[in-house]
Amino acid sequence: MAIVGIVPAAGGGERLRADGPKAFVPCAGRALLDWSLEVLTATCERVVVAVPAGYEDGGNRVLGAGSRSGSVRAGLEAAPEATVVVVHDAARPLLTRELVERCLAAIAAGWDGAVAAAPMSDTVKEVSADGRVLRTLDRALLWSVQTPQAFRADALRRALAVDDRTLVGASDDASLVEAAGGSVCVVEAPAENLKVTRPIDLERAASLLAARRHSASSDPSRVR
Ligand code: CTP
Ligand code: MG
Repeated sequence: MAIVGIVPAAGGGERLRADGPKAFVPCAGRALLDWSLEVLTATCERVVVAVPAGYEDGGNRVLGAGSRSGSVRAGLEAAPEATVVVVHDAARPLLTRELVERCLAAIAAGWDGAVAAAPMSDTVKEVSADGRVLRTLDRALLWSVQTPQAFRADALRRALAVDDRTLVGASDDASLVEAAGGSVCVVEAPAENLKVTRPIDLERAASLLAARRHSASSDPSRVR
């Protein structure tokens, strides 16, 4: 079984409004991307990173695409040996080894895909374009979906073999696997697995990562 990590890191990070692409912005002493790479290199045989133009130097980097799923597809094309794939956004630096391993265990148990997710804590309403509330959804059935997302590689390859318009419309890769008829399950993620989107998220991530590093250095048995 060849487990390959794929990190879409090619986004510009418009909402973060930093000087350069989000994946390369410093966070708690290193590039945002490097936090995820540390965990993925410990759990995968190889990790391929899809990067923006100008950042291709270094091993295992490919040029990303105009959409997030397009960047994932570019990474997957560079990993023909993969039998299992772990897709993880560079924008989620608080990844843990345990979360990746729980997603991989679900694939080993027979699912085509397994996605990190959190049960909804907010009430969710469907709202029309003019602001009118149409209905309130049943929160007990709703999960908010994150990365990592692990897949059987053949299921993901099939799912990503769609036209570019469909790729642009996909907000995650699991939705494409679902649309292709694949079975996907959720794996509950720790509350701290946040996504860095805006400046306030970067501040929160930096302080959580600094605290994590501090607790790991004062208790080596807690390194994850
Ligand atoms: N991503 C990518 N290729 C793209 C767009 C996004 O690889 N064409 C990656 C980002 O680098 C990020 C992840 O997908 O790791 C999630 O995307 P998002 O958080 O939206 O990042 P950005 O697109 O960079 O940010 P923004 O939407 O604010 O510009
Ligand atoms: Mg984006």
